[in-house]
Amino acid sequence: MERLLAAGEQVVVIDDLSTGSWDNLASVRSHPGLERVESTVSAWAGLGDTVASAKAVFHLAAAVGVELVVQAPRRTIEINLRETEAVLDAASKSKTPVVFTSTSEVYGKSDKPWFSEEDDLLIGPPTLSRWSYACSKLLDEFLALACHGEQGVPVVIARLFNIVGPRQSGRHGMVLPRFVSAARAGQPLRVFGDGRQTRCLCRVQDCVEALLRLWACPAAAGQIVNIGHDEEISILDLAQVVISELGSASTIDRVPYEAAYQSGFQDMPRRRPDLRKLERLTGFRPRAGVRDVVRQVAGLGPAA
Ligand SMILES: NC(=O)c1ccc[n+]([C@@H]2O[C@H](COP(=O)([O-])OP(=O)(O)OC[C@H]3O[C@@H](n4cnc5c(N)ncnc54)[C@H](O)[C@@H]3O)[C@@H](O)[C@H]2O)c1
Repeated sequence: MERLLAAGEQVVVIDDLSTGSWDNLASVRSHPGLERVESTVSAWAGLGDTVASAKAVFHLAAAVGVELVVQAPRRTIEINLRETEAVLDAASKSKTPVVFTSTSEVYGKSDKPWFSEEDDLLIGPPTLSRWSYACSKLLDEFLALACHGEQGVPVVIARLFNIVGPRQSGRHGMVLPRFVSAARAGQPLRVFGDGRQTRCLCRVQDCVEALLRLWACPAAAGQIVNIGHDEEISILDLAQVVISELGSASTIDRVPYEAAYQSGFQDMPRRRPDLRKLERLTGFRPRAGVRDVVRQVAGLGPAA
């Protein structure tokens, strides 16, 4: 959003502040190009006209965060389906381009070393509420592709892999902000399971660059494209990097998944994006490595 304003665009942000905060827009609060609307997307009466006159819609509003999803699967499903349907419905009338943010969660329990956009998906059973997020986002993907195929909406689906940045909240289970605040407070860093599960962390600025490039790429319409970094780190190693970069005296506590979430909770051993399609379409590859990302989230300067 700051990037669009800096490029001279007018930006309307619609947010119900369920997990977000206007504080995140502090640097552009009084920018003349910014309009803020505090509402759920689907309930806002101005949605149709705004989408019709927009150059693009970046649709990020969703129920997010593992803890929230596990506690409130019905809310997760309803929000993720309803808001995307409202956006795509409006865009279908005006043919406004849409960039929809889906998630690496749709790859489910696949144990492939790289997740590619054409892969089969292996989502867990509906009795485990954590899968409600992946399934609702996957249905959004189907809907987006149907709107592309049937109504000609230029929509691109971006599957995001662990995007992190300084304004991300740890309140709803996001790992890096949780680790950073625990390390700052000298409290133990809670690592779920054996900590050998790996993730690839991508700096939010790199994700924004990729989203903007996908919007500007006509060949991306109707496509699913991974966005993330492909450098893997285990959660245990990540905890150690956080402790060392912050010079913290914190220890690491291993916590069984059942104690953190729900009985039978299923986690993915690894989640690493195949980024070749992103690079082919946009010429872009995310750059920042893990230490840089950790330091940025912690508000420290770049790694030496
Ligand atoms: N951060 C990641 O690693 C990641 C990974 C995969 C997918 N995503 C997707 O990226 C998008 C942004 O996620 P984020 O991580 O920045 O989380 P976030 O909580 O910062 O962003 C979601 C925003 O949507 C708002 N919102 C929620 N429901 C709404 C509704 N009904 N109407 C209006 N606003 C609503 C929230 O208040 C919040 O500001 C989401 O669609 C998420 O599924 C993020």
